[in-house]
Amino acid sequence: MDEAAPQKTKPSVRKRADAIRPFRCKNLIAVIEDPADIRNIGTVIRNVNALGVEKTYVVDPKGALPDDWQDLREKRSVFKTSASAVKWTFVKRFDSTEACLDHLERNRFVSVVTSPHVKGKTSLFLHEADFAADTKLAVWFGNESRGISALAVARSAMCVAIPMFGMVESLNLGTSSGIVLYEVTKQRRAYQSVYRLRKNRGKRAEPLPTVMPPDERAE
Ligand SMILES: C[S@@+](CC[C@H](N)C(=O)[O-])C[C@H]1O[C@@H](n2cnc3c(N)ncnc32)[C@H](O)[C@@H]1O
Repeated sequence: MDEAAPQKTKPSVRKRADAIRPFRCKNLIAVIEDPADIRNIGTVIRNVNALGVEKTYVVDPKGALPDDWQDLREKRSVFKTSASAVKWTFVKRFDSTEACLDHLERNRFVSVVTSPHVKGKTSLFLHEADFAADTKLAVWFGNESRGISALAVARSAMCVAIPMFGMVESLNLGTSSGIVLYEVTKQRRAYQSVYRLRKNRGKRAEPLPTVMPPDERAE
């Protein structure tokens, strides 16, 4: 059972939960750093759930979210904008960027930040980055106006940018998280389909499918 799934589930919901489980990207966390608009948290959670990311962490220094995950699920502004995805997604809040990074590093997660700008020692475009190289990966998204913090950049392995071709400086949080997490999950599902273990070990005799068979897709 999904750790975020409600206790009582209808058979159709259970069937769907079983069908999507093999496609979920293990050890992949999306981190939202100090979002100003609580509705953006719901939008990112929707992307996280839809694309098969395992968890969402929120750096919430202003205490906009309840500590308890069950209370968060009932928070209307998050529930509505997530299209109820918050019911199915594990969300954890942290008081500070430092506390979140400490927790991730203690659990051996490698962080990657996202920004429309060149930041840190290694800055790559989205399509150039290898998101399957690290077994445990946290992908960070920054504040709507300030962007990603210097601390998150300093403790990350790389900074990833979606190439921009317009007059605007950046994409919004919802759109950028959707694009980045699509690429990250696509790469990690491709890896998981071929290898059972890290560092290209445990090669499967037959690769697993990376997309749902037509009869299991939502109608
Ligand atoms: C509205 S943007 C923040 C803009 C801010 N002025 C800045 O300097 O980053 C909010 C977040 O969306 C993500 N983002 C937006 N556009 C992006 C792009 N082209 N490439 C990668 N991430 C992007 C980043 O995580 C960014 O911190």
